[in-house]
Amino acid sequence: MNRRNFIKSTCLTCVSSVGAIWLLQACKSTKHVSNFQYNQNIITIQKTEFITVKNEKTIQRKFIVIKPDSLPFPIAVYKLNDNDYKTSLLQCSHQGCELSPYETTMVCPCHGAEFNTKGEVTQGPAETNLKTFITTYDNDNIYIQIN
Ligand code: FES
Repeated sequence: MNRRNFIKSTCLTCVSSVGAIWLLQACKSTKHVSNFQYNQNIITIQKTEFITVKNEKTIQRKFIVIKPDSLPFPIAVYKLNDNDYKTSLLQCSHQGCELSPYETTMVCPCHGAEFNTKGEVTQGPAETNLKTFITTYDNDNIYIQIN
């Protein structure tokens, strides 16, 4: 193996390893919730869906994802703090691809647009914010108004 091929294969290995680790971390943080109720355009989710226990340790999730039958794309519900939840449709406002949600951002795999946890554009080519939903809560549940 000559020097050029060695450097090329070493770099590819490094990039692949970093990508695999990043992908595993991203997958770890996504929780698709099937336990929700949909009644008269209101989705109800228990707040406990944001809590998970792993190795006897309680972990607070930053977001969860649900897919109501009435919507063409999943929605991501972000817990910004105990008194603030934001819900966005995971459909890119550029050309409609499904977004990938992460802890601090939502990323479009088609052309690279990015949105913050409030659904606001942080990187183009998208120019408009995501469709969002009014989200309220009480002691036990979160309520998302689908309009
Ligand atoms: S469809 Fe999302 S950036 Fe183009």
